[in-house]
Amino acid sequence: GRKCQLNGVWRNDQDSVMEISMVRDNGDFQGQYLTRVTLAGGCAQISPLRGAQQQLGEEGWPTFAFTVRWDKFSNATTAFVGQCFVDAGGKETLSTTWLLREAVGSLEEDWKATRVGRNVFTRKRTSER
Ligand code: BTN
Repeated sequence: GRKCQLNGVWRNDQDSVMEISMVRDNGDFQGQYLTRVTLAGGCAQISPLRGAQQQLGEEGWPTFAFTVRWDKFSNATTAFVGQCFVDAGGKETLSTTWLLREAVGSLEEDWKATRVGRNVFTRKRTSER
């Protein structure tokens, strides 16, 4: 299959949008994330993300991980892991699993502080909002 590039603007199945801007030669990358949903139900703000992509050969579909710092509006942290796939028509999909850690006030509440879920991202077309 075709090579998969993480650079660009992606939208997921929850209508969140992220832009991965800088992918370095060593696989480190940075970007921005705008989530459409929040734990508190309030408004989100654009949040920085940082990650690392595994370095495979030219034809590889890389695995990657990134974290998002929501600290402009929340004390939670999310870590995503995933892999990029390209179908026969050239459509790229990022299949990810995430852990969302919420800050709790005591060790007794630790058991309920971590959520797990999945998100699928596809490339956002430039004509979309
Ligand atoms: C918070 O509400 O405290 C932080 C925002 C969490 C958004 C989560 S991260 C996993 C899932 N995928 C998204 O695009 N948004 C939610």
